[in-house]
Amino acid sequence: MVMESNTRTYEASPPRETPQERVARQISSEFVLAFYRLLKEATFYKRYTQGVDFLSGQCLHTLNSIVKAHGHLSLKIIRDVCFLNNTRIHVSADQFALFKAFIKEMRRRWIGEIEFRSELTPAQLRDLIFLLLELEDNNEGNFLYMKRELERRGLPGIDVGKLDLFKDELAVTDSESRRRLSKEVYFKTLDFLKTAMDNARTSRVMQVRKIKRLMLNAVNLLMMDESSLLGLANIKSYDDYTFNHCVNVAIYAMALGQRIGIPKKYLSFLGMAGLFHDVGKLGVTKDILNKPGPLESDEWEVIHRHPLLGAEIIMGLKEWGELSTRMIAVAFEHHVKYDLSGYPRLSRPRKTALFSRIITIADCFDALGRPRVYRKHPYVSEKILGMMLERSGKDFDPLLVKVFINMIGIYPLGSLVRLSTEEMGVVVQVPQDSQMLHRPKVLLLNYADGQYTRDATVDLAERDDVTQEFTRTILRTLDPNDYHINVAEYFL
Ligand SMILES: [Fe+2]
Ligand SMILES: [Fe+2]
Repeated sequence: MVMESNTRTYEASPPRETPQERVARQISSEFVLAFYRLLKEATFYKRYTQGVDFLSGQCLHTLNSIVKAHGHLSLKIIRDVCFLNNTRIHVSADQFALFKAFIKEMRRRWIGEIEFRSELTPAQLRDLIFLLLELEDNNEGNFLYMKRELERRGLPGIDVGKLDLFKDELAVTDSESRRRLSKEVYFKTLDFLKTAMDNARTSRVMQVRKIKRLMLNAVNLLMMDESSLLGLANIKSYDDYTFNHCVNVAIYAMALGQRIGIPKKYLSFLGMAGLFHDVGKLGVTKDILNKPGPLESDEWEVIHRHPLLGAEIIMGLKEWGELSTRMIAVAFEHHVKYDLSGYPRLSRPRKTALFSRIITIADCFDALGRPRVYRKHPYVSEKILGMMLERSGKDFDPLLVKVFINMIGIYPLGSLVRLSTEEMGVVVQVPQDSQMLHRPKVLLLNYADGQYTRDATVDLAERDDVTQEFTRTILRTLDPNDYHINVAEYFL
């Protein structure tokens, strides 16, 4: 059986740009990144330092050159996209996280636009940055305060505008609501999947609209903040193995897809393909799936049939419409491997679909991170990422693995770590800046009376006010199993 492969690839940058357009795009991203780094540095020190001075010099250089060339510079945020002088800035995968972090900073302050109508002096840029730092979190009126202050401080060349939020974004501006909604989406999807699999078994009609809505919600949440939903993917339930695994695969896949610039509509399709990638396992008995020892050759044969069986089951589900081709491809190809050495063997060598290559990575990462009957303790994430890197170009698309590892971080969400202060904690937020990957946010744990309780969340990028040294540094990762800690709990 030969599946039609979806050969369309998604580019983070526009496909046919002229050299001038490319230069313009590079300058635009350079400006946003310089502005963000300056804002971040000033946030940490809360005062003028040499670092702030250096970064403001870099930022000013690009800012003034754009103003000089175009007469003004307007930076606008719409959803998760930045526009510079009304042109969308296409972001490459390695800059994705920084852009995301910048947008998050601006969203937090409800500022959706900054316009520079004349070139600035270093002092003026510094005033603007420290004015941004003064703003309260989640205050819709911040832009009015800023307008007043800009005028009062004699900065008429700068103007700001309020953030425009779309209806679906309104409910999730603060991190607590994002956490609550993420949990809701996670567990509703899990419930849906249980019923859906039952229905697939008996060929009953599935509620396609409901799952499409759930996946779109998941995409919206991921676009705003990856950590709440990705943190939940740390739930590795043994009893619910198949369902829980498929929900996690969908989350990892959508998060990765987002980073390589797959449009929103297709991201939700990717999520659904993730949910149903293993639907063919309905045809494999529990005895084989949960067998503690090595499998016999006839048992392997049954396992090796699940991709084909999955594709057939999905073909029988009429109501999926345009979605089904992608879902069929993923179900059929997710074990084929990048070098085609997996199963099933393709009758004609060809590149597998982009969705399949993404799901293969998500599938493997989740599968290795969970306990199995034959492997009581799961591997820690560090080891899994190492193994995946080793198999890059063989099992996995090398480019996608690179983006994935960057996304998961050196200390992935849910890593248990020992700090230089002798404290222990769980990584709850991975830094957006790839140069700071080793300095995540950590929830400290206290041990008393035989149990661990939550303490404060600390940012490892924080420095001591006087010495300027980092306050805390990770010494090593610990295996949560050795401490009887279920890391997923800290994301619930
Ligand atoms: Fe599978
Ligand atoms: Fe799987």
